[in-house]
Amino acid sequence: MVLWAGRFKKEVDENVNAFNSSISFDARMYKQDITGSMAHAKMLEKQGIINKQALSEIQKGLTDILNELENGTLEFDYNAEDIHMFIESELTKRYPISGKKLHTARSRNDQVALDLRLYTRDEIKEIKEMLISLIEVIVKTALKHTNTIMPGYTHLQRAQPITFAHHLMAYSEMFYRDICRLDDCYKRVNISPLGSGALATTTYPIDRMMSAKLLNMDDITHNSLDGVSDRDYAIEFANDLALIMMHLSRFSEEMILWCSWEFKYIELDDAYATGSSIMPQKKNPDIAELVRGKSARVINHVSSLLTMMKGLPLAYNKDMQEDKEALFDAIDTVKLCLPVFTDMIKTMRINKDKMKEAAAKGFINATDCADYLVKHGLAFRDAYKIVGQLVAYCIDNDFVLETLPLHIYKDFNEIFDETIYDAISLETCVNNRLVDGGPAKEMVEKSIAIMKQKIGEIK
Ligand code: ARG
Repeated sequence: MVLWAGRFKKEVDENVNAFNSSISFDARMYKQDITGSMAHAKMLEKQGIINKQALSEIQKGLTDILNELENGTLEFDYNAEDIHMFIESELTKRYPISGKKLHTARSRNDQVALDLRLYTRDEIKEIKEMLISLIEVIVKTALKHTNTIMPGYTHLQRAQPITFAHHLMAYSEMFYRDICRLDDCYKRVNISPLGSGALATTTYPIDRMMSAKLLNMDDITHNSLDGVSDRDYAIEFANDLALIMMHLSRFSEEMILWCSWEFKYIELDDAYATGSSIMPQKKNPDIAELVRGKSARVINHVSSLLTMMKGLPLAYNKDMQEDKEALFDAIDTVKLCLPVFTDMIKTMRINKDKMKEAAAKGFINATDCADYLVKHGLAFRDAYKIVGQLVAYCIDNDFVLETLPLHIYKDFNEIFDETIYDAISLETCVNNRLVDGGPAKEMVEKSIAIMKQKIGEIK
């Protein structure tokens, strides 16, 4: 018999029961549901709404249920409507009188809103840790490659020389912003809706701040309709997760390019690549491809959540039960991707020679060649034109700027002398970019130090 049996003359149709039920996916919030109920019960007792005996039986019952669920001696009943109903009826089976008192001054509407906030709060913490580990691996790898020259690209065309450290550190900036976004989201998550009731609070003299404090929450929601029907925090979190996936996906795309024969900048460890069932020469970057592929579902969950919410009148509507699968899948996907991706980066081998070779072939020092002329008195636009002609000459005659003889340079402009070769050496091009945020070894080391400090502060 279901808990609302009084109003109904018939049992719910079996198909409707299955259709309505959310326990198959919300069972994962059992711990948060129990934690929330514990705080609620303590508050009820303190306010004189339930007595000491009821509180101690509720506490004992909930503790046992939690332990039994964790050690596998109690199984979820998948015929229950949801995790909240399951735990309450399990408690009532054990303590029929006290168990029935737990739901005083509470509704499943504020209960589920609380549980999802507590669940999100826990997940934010875990995902933050994973992002920190990824940044640490990036920083460690970058420190070894502040002299590893590679082409920097725009439009995927070789543009100007940078170092592998500089390129990698760009991703640490993205993941650091992801951490900051999670921290910010946490502020809006960690607020208690408990006591909002079904929609209009309750007539019992509850103390909402007390239960919030017991749950280590920073505040309470200040409108009961909003308290039960706000899912902004879930959408915000999903959006933060989508950004993480977008960053991982861009990084994956580069890994995929870099381990192709066309680039060969890196080689994946055998443990993080797969072979082909037919082509013996293949070593495929499946992990990076899957991360890139999985970003799609997380991005789409944001849109599902927004679309699910956008037409709902206040306050709670059952549509909102649909928030969980979207949010949970977004969380699971990110948590699945981050550790494998981190290990893939940690174990990859870097082919410095290939990077250098690519950097030496693409005329990526052309800007520096033009700057050389500017430093000798030419206007930038004139210098730009001369170097354009030089590059065209090199391409036609199988030279690069480094190998072009001085007398030919002089044919284009008399200003050129033997110092041009040092001015356009890739090392000079990189290390003369002594601007904050730039690729010079000194500057990358500075940004690494700043990142290390920021990570140290949040750890
Ligand atoms: N399983 C429901 C959900 O996830 C819990 C709240 C149900 N409330 C209600 N009035 N039917 O949204």
